[in-house]
Amino acid sequence: MMKSTTTRVAEILTGTFPEGEVRVKGWVRTRRDSKGGFSFIELNDGSCLKSVQVVADGGLDNYDSEVLKLTTGCCVDVRGTVVASPGKGQSLEIIAKQLHVLGWADPETYPLQKKRHSYEYLRGVAHLRARTNTFGAVARIRSVLSDACHQFFQERGFVLLHTPIITGSDCEGAGAMFRVTTSNAEVSPGVGPSVEAEDFFGKSAYLTVSGQLEAETYAMALGRVYTFGPTFRAENSNTSRHLAEFWMVEPEMAFFDLSDDADLAEAFVKHLAGAVLERCSDDLDLFRRFVQSSHTPDLRIMVDEPFERITYTEAVDLLLKSGERFDTPVEWGTDLQSEHERYLAETVFKRPLILTDYPKDIKPFYMRVNDDGRTVAAMDVLVAGIGEIIGGGQREERYDVLVNRMKELGMELEPYWWYLDLRSYGTAPHAGFGLGFDRMVQFVTGMANIRDVIPFPRTPGNVEF
Ligand code: 4AD
Ligand code: MG
Repeated sequence: MMKSTTTRVAEILTGTFPEGEVRVKGWVRTRRDSKGGFSFIELNDGSCLKSVQVVADGGLDNYDSEVLKLTTGCCVDVRGTVVASPGKGQSLEIIAKQLHVLGWADPETYPLQKKRHSYEYLRGVAHLRARTNTFGAVARIRSVLSDACHQFFQERGFVLLHTPIITGSDCEGAGAMFRVTTSNAEVSPGVGPSVEAEDFFGKSAYLTVSGQLEAETYAMALGRVYTFGPTFRAENSNTSRHLAEFWMVEPEMAFFDLSDDADLAEAFVKHLAGAVLERCSDDLDLFRRFVQSSHTPDLRIMVDEPFERITYTEAVDLLLKSGERFDTPVEWGTDLQSEHERYLAETVFKRPLILTDYPKDIKPFYMRVNDDGRTVAAMDVLVAGIGEIIGGGQREERYDVLVNRMKELGMELEPYWWYLDLRSYGTAPHAGFGLGFDRMVQFVTGMANIRDVIPFPRTPGNVEF
């Protein structure tokens, strides 16, 4: 009896498949013909980085008509026997007893050839790039990281919260929101309100920039919650670290202060790095050896060494005293740029660090004001190659202080009535943070551009696929 269910290549290579007879299905990477009248086919099914070698003998009834016409990208269904491989570079191979072509790929037009393609080229064929080693590895690592996020919070009793994607409030106050509308009317200044009233929700609606405000409401009931969802920012930042649609993990904890928050952020990032080290060794190895990187992420340092913790003010002093020439000069009160953050992580401390207590004027309204009146209980986690991967802090739980802050910033209070209610009814100290999930994938892989760690990147001018 020939096996009828599909065995995955990963099961074969790890020896966990049940018997010698197998049926594998996947995509041809290469075909090589031997003078002895048989062919070697490298078959990859995406289950792991490695391909399996299929030996197709000239005796197969479709050898001349089909096997010899197989090219990169064709999809095949192979039944055969797993044997120890005499060849170099692999321990096992499959001797095909039957090879059925499921799908041809015209070599004249198939966009992926054996040669190396640039990442830029591959972005244009993002529907096929997962068939390359690099993008397959990114996808598997991304998946393991995602699982590790849930594992971390679930094990600690956090409740997963699905916060809305369409929202009426601007959490970050940066005004970089995508508008959501069903109205065909042009929205121009002055006609806003009446157009809004006739629109689907009866008022302005946007894609969320963060689930934080909603997460705070549930933290004030369930104690510890987290969200993991897509977020959207219409900022025109064409950098290697910005997407218009990105994924964020946002825990929110009642009764946490800034230092509890930083402890959790550090433990979380360490857990993620540890999970990748443990579960993705082959894929990680690929990045270490073959992928052009913006940095060589040292995951062991991330896991083993305590993160450095300093205040924003101390960081500014260090940067000013460094004698380093930055593109953007450093000055107390201005936001740190990625070049400054990277300099601290890569050159000064050579490990991840947590910066706390930023000037209040460069942070959003919800940050808790410190006793000095000039700084807030904010915290960012900075890493090599990227800069900020986490932003968060302790929230302002004092009603009067919050209202004053919002007024100072010229915010309308009415849309935030429910957020302010939390401060009127049973308010409590609380804190949280947001991990830029795509940036974390970028950090562990070392991929230079964030567009290459998400399947279909959305950036200014790009919404294909
Ligand atoms: O620092 P941010 O803006 O913080 C917040 O949104 C808070 N509401 C989070 C919270 O406290 N619950 O964003 C958090 C993280 C950043 O540190 C960065 O890693 C990532 O989200 N991020 C982006 N990632 C990709 N593309 C963008 N345009 C990003 N903007 C922020
Ligand atoms: Mg930030």
